[in-house]
Amino acid sequence: MDNRPIGLFDSGVGGLTVLKQIQKILPRESVIYLGDTQHLPYGDKSKEAIIRFSIENTKFLLRQNVKAIVVACNSASSVAVEVLRETFKVPIIGVIEPTIKCISRKKTSSVLVIGTMRTVRSGVYQKKLQELNLGIEIFGKACPLLVPLVEEGAFLNKGSLLYNALVSTLEYYLGEYRDRVSHIVLGCTHYPAIENEIRFVMDGVELIDPGECAALELKEILEKNDMLSEEKSRFEKFFVTDLSEKTVEVAKIILQREINIEEIYLPES
Ligand code: DGL
Repeated sequence: MDNRPIGLFDSGVGGLTVLKQIQKILPRESVIYLGDTQHLPYGDKSKEAIIRFSIENTKFLLRQNVKAIVVACNSASSVAVEVLRETFKVPIIGVIEPTIKCISRKKTSSVLVIGTMRTVRSGVYQKKLQELNLGIEIFGKACPLLVPLVEEGAFLNKGSLLYNALVSTLEYYLGEYRDRVSHIVLGCTHYPAIENEIRFVMDGVELIDPGECAALELKEILEKNDMLSEEKSRFEKFFVTDLSEKTVEVAKIILQREINIEEIYLPES
């Protein structure tokens, strides 16, 4: 038993979609969330910069006495997890490896991974899946316009101009894959917020949520190491490195509830 909280970090508040999955799958666990909004977005940053930010984020969470770290951000997971594992002793769970596990359990021959430039350019999903030699064809598509559309709440008002813009943008990115893939990996923290719209555009395709895959992996690791919490009243704490009105708004849009967010200062990385 280990009642210490789980630490979770993302480039911003998009990773709250991952927090939702952790709270659903591990309802007794307390969580400390850090959004590095000062450096948002990670999706178009260099690998080196993302590694530096990820190290500082992890150090902060460890100072809060967390028992494990979840790298909620796909962009950070695709380039920084290995360095974090070499640097820190606690269990570090990224979203990529658990998602590969999820894909390998599906009956599929063709998968599309959608995400930021950084995630798609890293080719990490392709590399890791090819290592398993399962004969699954995997495509990658960067969809940089989707994060701003989610942050504008485009999915909230069906039929509005912005909603229609979201559907057209999805058609623009995904249309060419219709009838070519059976599964889509929502390889960016923000995309679970628009899963209904993705399903609408790509009728019949099954969606894979890396947040859910990571939460299941976390559960397995905590169980195996006898680290599950037995606390009856869990807590949650939210920190960001730059607290703007926009951050508060986007957090509410993604979580569909109000939360208290505290601003912290992290040494310049
Ligand atoms: N959290 C990022 C990801 O999942 C999306 C936002 C960003 O580019 O920082 O890749």
